[in-house]
Amino acid sequence: MNIPFMRLDRQFEQHKDTIMALCEQVFSHGRVLQGPEVAKLENQLCEVMGTKHAVAVGSATDALFFALVTAGIKPGDKIAVPAMTFVASASPVIRAGATPVFVDAGENYQPDITKTIELVNSGSVQAVIAVHLYGQLFDITPLADACRAKGVILIEDAAQAIGATFNGSSPGAQSFAASLSFDPMKVAGAFGSGGAIVTNDSAVTERIKRLRYHGRDDSRTYLELGYNSQIASIQAGIVGFKLDHLEEWAKRRQHIARRYTSVLDEISSTTPPLEIPGSHHVFHKYVMTAGENRDRLREHLSAAGIGTMIHYASPLHKVPVFADYITENDAFPESERLSHEALSLPMYPELDDDDVDYICETLTSFNW
Ligand SMILES: Cc1ncc(COP(=O)(O)O)c(C=O)c1O
Repeated sequence: MNIPFMRLDRQFEQHKDTIMALCEQVFSHGRVLQGPEVAKLENQLCEVMGTKHAVAVGSATDALFFALVTAGIKPGDKIAVPAMTFVASASPVIRAGATPVFVDAGENYQPDITKTIELVNSGSVQAVIAVHLYGQLFDITPLADACRAKGVILIEDAAQAIGATFNGSSPGAQSFAASLSFDPMKVAGAFGSGGAIVTNDSAVTERIKRLRYHGRDDSRTYLELGYNSQIASIQAGIVGFKLDHLEEWAKRRQHIARRYTSVLDEISSTTPPLEIPGSHHVFHKYVMTAGENRDRLREHLSAAGIGTMIHYASPLHKVPVFADYITENDAFPESERLSHEALSLPMYPELDDDDVDYICETLTSFNW
């Protein structure tokens, strides 16, 4: 059996008629950039995320950068970012001229909130990027309260968390803005690149709309230096189609996750991902830990034709691009542990029951 980590080919096969019809629609009306599909996607995002505004841009990396610029981040500002995340949670900080201050992972793959709040309370950072990993939100309220009290800007990197809620609340509700990704691996992925910012602030929305296209306002005046960061209308249409199925596909992901967890619960040397009470986990990824067995387990699954990945093999303090921002006294023991022990299993709604049975059997047959 061959079960790749990701199967966009199968996704395309299952939804070919809809996807091809959306392509035809865009090519026929010809507004391939900023077409009606983009405006429709922005309205859908407001509904899904519960925010007043959404601006679609070229990627979540750009979205985060635009949020930082709009928040007034300036050279020399310090910004707390988790060490255990994808590089694009921190690279926009440097692009904005600011300095990332890395924070170790805490419980359950989440950033260490206690340490982050300490940085906020001690006046050491001007902003915080809060990253929600793997399809689950952490409780943002204590951090949001601390940031508000100290006048620190809070931006949520919700690239992996579209559709996830905590106590019914979505990213963007308590922060300056939240960035979203439509990278092909994401729960609402484009067949290409794309991202968005959601926020309740209309001035932030207008500014980011200008930044995404050369600083141009509604009257087509170029008011400031901007960028070219647009999502293609075709991609907006495809993401919009996927948003219509978000809940249905999240249920399938949850079902698969619970099958994996039921197997791993029987094996004492592994830790399945925890579904935090109050959280609606959309399982963008299924990340387990396998202690010192991780690499051997990965080989066992690979020999059986099952693709896996490691999120993240290099925590950001070990990534060369950030070397200048790490001091000798910095320590990130939990991020290091996760980088040695975590393993991500295939997780997409197109996995069929035979695939899931086979993965579960292969996990069971491993010599733990
Ligand atoms: C946590 C996180 N932040 C930011 C990004 C960047 O998203 P994009 O690829 O849309 O720029 C990603 C994408 O992989 C991500 O996982």
